[in-house]
Amino acid sequence: MTDTAKLSIAGSDHDYPVMSGTVGPDVVDIRKLYAQTGAFTYDPGFTSTASCQSKLTYIDGDEGVLLHRGYAIGDLAENSTFMEVAYLLLNDELPKKGELEQFETTITRHTMLHEQLAMFYRGFRRDAHPMAIMCGVVGALSAFYHDSTDIHDPTQRMIASHRLIAKMPTIAAMAYKYSVGQPFLYPDNSLSYTGNFLRMTFGVPAEAYEVDPVIEKALDRIFILHADHEQNASTSTVRLAGSSGANPFACIAAGIACLWGPAHGGANEAALNMLHEIGTVDRIPEFIARAKDKNDPFRLMGFGHRVYKNYDPRATVMQKTVREVFAAMKVSDPVFDVALKLEELALSDPYFVEKKLFPNVDFYSGVILSAIGFPTSMFTALFALARTVGWVAQWNEMITDPDQKIGRPRQLYNGPAERTYVPVGQR
Ligand code: CMC
Repeated sequence: MTDTAKLSIAGSDHDYPVMSGTVGPDVVDIRKLYAQTGAFTYDPGFTSTASCQSKLTYIDGDEGVLLHRGYAIGDLAENSTFMEVAYLLLNDELPKKGELEQFETTITRHTMLHEQLAMFYRGFRRDAHPMAIMCGVVGALSAFYHDSTDIHDPTQRMIASHRLIAKMPTIAAMAYKYSVGQPFLYPDNSLSYTGNFLRMTFGVPAEAYEVDPVIEKALDRIFILHADHEQNASTSTVRLAGSSGANPFACIAAGIACLWGPAHGGANEAALNMLHEIGTVDRIPEFIARAKDKNDPFRLMGFGHRVYKNYDPRATVMQKTVREVFAAMKVSDPVFDVALKLEELALSDPYFVEKKLFPNVDFYSGVILSAIGFPTSMFTALFALARTVGWVAQWNEMITDPDQKIGRPRQLYNGPAERTYVPVGQR
């Protein structure tokens, strides 16, 4: 504690402790505010509220910095693997060689789904959105894995975490296979986490599937970029659901539901759809004008961020990865040219400069995922797959936090004061 915040309300003065983290803004500890003053704070969208203490992820939005347990996202994306980042988020430190091998083996051995779950899929329409399927199937995991739903048992918590991380690629790939009417593929334990996912998605039982190492590396990097992102909407949803003691599978299903929205994980799908709609470079000014028009609800998708008021460091890596994949695959896509020009024009426009609106992680991710062969409807499902690592790490941290309580925000009531019921015939 470094300081005290003073608040004067209704004629009396109160002191509140100021808490400091390792880096980042101090926070005013207002836990006793209501008991002492009878007042609440008002902060829709939690723009000034720290909902928890965390050791996992740090973001400096003004500087465009994102750290996982102190390691910069660019460094991890360049040098690490998704499995290693998953270990790091779950276990405080980067793994030693043997620890990483053990972790990879554990995750690999949990990739299969209970066979009954395959039938669950058949209840969905073929044109169901993969996120709708994922919400349902992940929520249903709690009906199959009763031996890992006791949240007070650390071993069960870790098994549930491993299961969720391991089964998410299988669940997402099956959602895709179901939509195209192809048979499900079982996981192949000889492949990497990401290679296995590629095979389950794009392979068919009729022939061998060869994992392209360039695509495998690029997708693994995309997973790293999405692994965790502090107390964003879906992570806060997972924590809030978990604060009631709900089982981990139900909590992650809640996170998937929240991620689906176009202002959050759904933005990658919306961004690519927007780039296709723009179509050619000459139409960009028209769309920029629409984004600036207060009477038009249109926004540049993949632009702007609640926390980043600078270039999203994940977008930097993503843009570089698009170039690498296109070069390796010897392909190009006019939509990438539209994206690059749109970025250039927006970043030289006073509207975007003054509001500090920069490309976010979703601006380029759609371009690359589509080049790999994923339909747009799968983009958010891939985000959910990767973010599961962050969700389970944050959920575990919350359960073991001695300050943890059931999440229960208050409100400023603006409705009618108490009044007498009027029978229907007299209204
Ligand atoms: N295009 C045009 N104007 C924008 C945009 C945009 N993409 N984003 C924000 N603005 C304007 C907005 O109209 C507002 O203007 P004013 O102050 O004149 O009313 C100002 O910038 C601040 O916007 P806000 O909505 O109050 O900011 P926020 O922090 O609540 O919203 C956001 C952040 C990400 C929801 C928003 O920037 C947005 O809707 N972006 C497009 C969707 C998107 O790309 N989402 C992905 C986020 S990154 C991945 C993830 O977290 O899932």
